[in-house]
Amino acid sequence: MATFNLLLLPGDGIGVETMAEVERLIAFFNKKSNKAQFATSTDLVGGVAYDTHGVAITDAAMAKADAADAIIFGAVGGPKWDSVPYEHRPEAGLLRLRKDLDLFANLRPAICYPALADASTLKREVVEGLDILILRELTGGTYFGEPKEIVTLENGEKRGVDTTVYTTREIDRLARVGFDLARKRRNKVHMAAKWNVMRTGVLWRDVVTATHKAYAPDVTLEHILADNCAMQLIRNPKQFDVIVTDNLFGDVLSDEAAMMTGSLGMLPSASLGAPDPKTGKRKSLYEPVHGSAPDIAGQGLANPIATIASFAMALRYSLDMAKEADLVDQAIADVLASGLRTGDIMQPGMTKVGTTEMGKAIAAALEKLTA
Ligand code: IPM
Ligand code: MG
Repeated sequence: MATFNLLLLPGDGIGVETMAEVERLIAFFNKKSNKAQFATSTDLVGGVAYDTHGVAITDAAMAKADAADAIIFGAVGGPKWDSVPYEHRPEAGLLRLRKDLDLFANLRPAICYPALADASTLKREVVEGLDILILRELTGGTYFGEPKEIVTLENGEKRGVDTTVYTTREIDRLARVGFDLARKRRNKVHMAAKWNVMRTGVLWRDVVTATHKAYAPDVTLEHILADNCAMQLIRNPKQFDVIVTDNLFGDVLSDEAAMMTGSLGMLPSASLGAPDPKTGKRKSLYEPVHGSAPDIAGQGLANPIATIASFAMALRYSLDMAKEADLVDQAIADVLASGLRTGDIMQPGMTKVGTTEMGKAIAAALEKLTA
């Protein structure tokens, strides 16, 4: 029997509560499965790591992350840490994980469950049946480019600088992942960039065009200006299949896409590295797209579905357990169809529940599906 080592990094705010519901599912699978067992270890990241160790993630936690079969991540940040030194801010822990493990490919699928089509702020007919995937570059661009600084000028004024940098290799390897994903879906890729304003945008358009020609002429490719993409996502999101984009545009477009699914509390993500040349395994981190939601943290109100769906993505992409992943996704759909809702997706006539009840209901639905 296979044993998978999972590193759980709940982090701050609602990350702690939503991770507890993932642990419930892990316990369920450990009890049920004779195919694989999960060995979990938990560590600190974000504000809580800063409070304990003075850094947003320790080297010891990084070593565990490096050795894990998959990392499940909650959320980081909150007003409590607004004034900690910039290099120790909670988000630095997450960014270090992404950068040091070279998790360059960030998959953010936005799926509108039928039961939630009315929970979106967009009209039902616009989002019903939506199934798109944003593939965000995660280790380059504006997030990591140097110089990145605030300097004081001679006249006493300050100047802030962020730098957007991309190389051919960084764009090419992401584009390949995008084409591979599209082939298993509806075979269409939109590359979103600002080639009308940014030199990096010109490079994105050129490299993705070349990669398409050499690697994936069977896939339909369109280039779309990132601002137009934001508009089209609201106007007619179902025209998209896979959107390939850079780190910063991907951050913005994926929050926008999340609202089409009803709530930011619904969107999972997977961050993957390159396959190991020997084992074929990729380093991987799975996290909900939502943040730590300090306003509702600690009250049992958070929607655990994005974190649970992120665990399902870990089953699918890192642990070769696609069948189990399908079961988790089905259990989520069943619970939503039964009318249970956390506050963020609550609608008239539905039953409002908290984090634990939602997690328990999903575990019970899983139990039923596997009985
Ligand atoms: C995300 C988040 C992060 C990001 C923050 C927490 C640093 O917004 O994963 O989308 O900007 O990448
Ligand atoms: Mg974001």
